[in-house]
Amino acid sequence: MRLKTSPQDHFTLYNGVTVPALGYGTFQSEDEAVGELIRTAVDIGYRHIDTASMYKNERGVGEGIRSCGLPREELFVTTKVWNANRSYEKVMESFKESMEKLDIGYLDLLLIHWPANRKMFGEDAPKINADTWAAFEELYREKKVRAIGVSNFRAHHLSELMEMSEMRPMVDQIEFHPGFAHFETLAFCRENEIVNEAWSPLGRKMVLENETLTTLAEKYGKTSAQICLRWEVQHDILPLPKSGSPDRIRSNTEIYDFELDQDDMEIIDALPPIGGQCIDPDQMPI
Ligand code: A2P
Repeated sequence: MRLKTSPQDHFTLYNGVTVPALGYGTFQSEDEAVGELIRTAVDIGYRHIDTASMYKNERGVGEGIRSCGLPREELFVTTKVWNANRSYEKVMESFKESMEKLDIGYLDLLLIHWPANRKMFGEDAPKINADTWAAFEELYREKKVRAIGVSNFRAHHLSELMEMSEMRPMVDQIEFHPGFAHFETLAFCRENEIVNEAWSPLGRKMVLENETLTTLAEKYGKTSAQICLRWEVQHDILPLPKSGSPDRIRSNTEIYDFELDQDDMEIIDALPPIGGQCIDPDQMPI
């Protein structure tokens, strides 16, 4: 593993596509406000924007991307297909709708937002995921999207999907923050050359007052948010922090000028749940 050195450094997917090493998350950013935030994030140095059809801000995200002053090719854009659209036909419709709203010419990465789970779908769950994925494979083969992946898949969802599919996902975007670290999924992804992205890398800011993290922040002369993000970088995960404040958007990029030592990494690894969504994808009722 090579430690990333800036937001514009990159991960390389197994198909050769490169992904800027820090992403700007847009969950809960309003359609009307997100364009300005994206222009700010791009000015600060972000080159990777993450949205989803469920966030209902793709129009604003697209407007921000078109007006940010950089050529389209310098940005990496992800969107996701929501759970109501799991069949082949619905994936195709959802993709078309996202592309119309975004209006950015092409998409870099398309993700399945959540796996269908057995709680909702019983033994049909793996087949539902495989059928959804077959539509993603087709979009990829037809070069309608540069890369395809999943979100919120644990190791067992991935291995089931891989048994029933031709291609394996290139990315798995998971909830990952101190107190909610899925090392089993990480290890599985590493073995299979699947890049992990972290949604909610700051645990929706709920983890930031934790005493272990504030003590480490003091030790390294950083904020506890920067400690979280640095811990993720050192685990070779691509964080997608979200902020509506220009100062915090900037400070979330200032994570490449220090290194957590191994003992401190292990202290954070061992934290019990301390906040954040902490969602078990097998218990999601949708
Ligand atoms: P704000 O938009 O006011 O900055 P996550 O990315 O884990 O979901 O966390 C997002 C939440 O964390 C948002 O509420 C955001 O609030 C807050 N946040 C983002 N960056 C920071 C930071 N550097 N320090 C404190 N809070 C932050």
